[in-house]
Amino acid sequence: MARITASVYTSHVPAIGVAVDQGKQNEPYWQPLFAGYEFSKQWMQDNTPDVVFLVYNDHATNFSLDLIPTFALGCADSFEIADEGWGPRPLPTVQGHPELAAHIAQSVIQQDFDLTLCNRMVVDHGLTVPLSLLCGNPPMPGGRWPFQVIPLHVNVVQYPVPSGARCLALGQAIRKAVESFDGDLDVQIWGTGGMSHQLQGARAGLINRQWDNAWLDRMVADPQACAATPHIDYVREAGSEGIELVMWLIARGAMADLAPPASGKVAAPRVRHRFYHVPASNTAVGHLILEND
Ligand code: DHB
Ligand code: FE
Repeated sequence: MARITASVYTSHVPAIGVAVDQGKQNEPYWQPLFAGYEFSKQWMQDNTPDVVFLVYNDHATNFSLDLIPTFALGCADSFEIADEGWGPRPLPTVQGHPELAAHIAQSVIQQDFDLTLCNRMVVDHGLTVPLSLLCGNPPMPGGRWPFQVIPLHVNVVQYPVPSGARCLALGQAIRKAVESFDGDLDVQIWGTGGMSHQLQGARAGLINRQWDNAWLDRMVADPQACAATPHIDYVREAGSEGIELVMWLIARGAMADLAPPASGKVAAPRVRHRFYHVPASNTAVGHLILEND
């Protein structure tokens, strides 16, 4: 049986990817940020999964305003690194897991979530920056990522975006799907994006440390409260791009304590690591590693 062993949450600021690509991790601006991921890189080496189910949002790179799927599952063998305007980052192609992806599609769609299936897609910083943060960049040419990746794109770019409750429930469905896969796989689920940031308009540059840290508390202890948070609260408190945080709820929903029927008997996940840093570019960076006991 495949199993979900841990969930990882991290911001995905594109400038972080550039800093890694250009070897700027020890510069004064970047050092405190990368220091917060040292534990995580070691933890990833000690707990390398077979597959990462990686929840992220495409930023008008693979999709455009012509076609806006709410939830799009990457079912391909591999996913090329997108050119986001300055050429593709110098990273290995991301290897998929088509068998597990097809099984998840079957199970989750039969659980009444209408996923869009992507048999070809390119992946942008929303997916590649978390990989760089948790794994470092593999040597090029010839390097590989240490695990296969199933991308799940969530629309948080163009309203209407899915509710937190829908995202939490989708995570629960993904857990059920993974656990019914006939194959011995260690699977992690990652939620990316956030925390507070606003890239546009009169409040551009908004950061809200207090709200972000309360969110980190509630993600662990009271995810249902996060799921009940209306979209307008994200916009008001965490800025227009803070809505990316709804994607974290998909990963949180896949943890054991929320597996239906919610008996309340399974303990909340164990916090292996928690980190918060302001700013990276225009964004408050948040990071959690949660393990099922
Ligand atoms: C920034 C953050 C993002 O999440 C993003 O998608 C693009 C830019 C930033 O802070 O610069
Ligand atoms: Fe983003």
